Amino acid sequence: MLRTAVLVSGGGTNLQAVIDGVKEGKITNTELVRVISNKPGVKALERAEKAGIATAVVSKKDFASLEEFNDALLSAIDEAEPDLIVLAGFLVVLPEKLVKKYSNKIINIHPSLIPSFCGVGYYGLKVHEEVIKRGVKVTGATVHFVDEGCDSGPIILQKAVEVQQDDTPEVLQRRVMEQAEWKIMPQAIDLIANGKVTVVDRKVKVDLK
Ligand code: GRF
Repeated sequence: MLRTAVLVSGGGTNLQAVIDGVKEGKITNTELVRVISNKPGVKALERAEKAGIATAVVSKKDFASLEEFNDALLSAIDEAEPDLIVLAGFLVVLPEKLVKKYSNKIINIHPSLIPSFCGVGYYGLKVHEEVIKRGVKVTGATVHFVDEGCDSGPIILQKAVEVQQDDTPEVLQRRVMEQAEWKIMPQAIDLIANGKVTVVDRKVKVDLK
């Protein structure tokens, strides 16, 4: 069983897709051991509690320095003894110590086709605003391993989504979630849990047999 911890900051629709995936058997060999939020009271925590998953809140506000917060975050993760850490809308820059310790064991979902519309400052609705502003006809989502950079780790899965002429950022965000994010995030976890993902020279090989 792949012991999986999920880190969240908000609505948790990707977390929900993972919870449902495990329940429905689309994600196999996986146990959701802990959901950690950097914000108290968010909907993602509610979703976790409803599914009977242990939760923890590690909020910057409760610590005097960034270093103390980072240490507390690392402890909350270590305590869960995870084999995989899933960032599902986690709006915190991960401490280097954490990234190094869990090298190729942290995955993130980004709402564009990396390397377009990613990097510093590209998160949430901003990504979709920029997609519409540039007038690209295709966008999508990417699941990737997390390295020391921003959205720069090895890419595991991507899925394209069409941009419609009259899209608002909100409408596009929803379509990218429904058609891409909620599909490739559960799929990536299932692939990892079943030993089908390997990283060679910073590139991911997926055994789709
Ligand atoms: C998603 O768009 C995800 O791609 C991004 O943050 C958002 C999280 O949404 N990293 P939710 O909390 O899963 O609903």
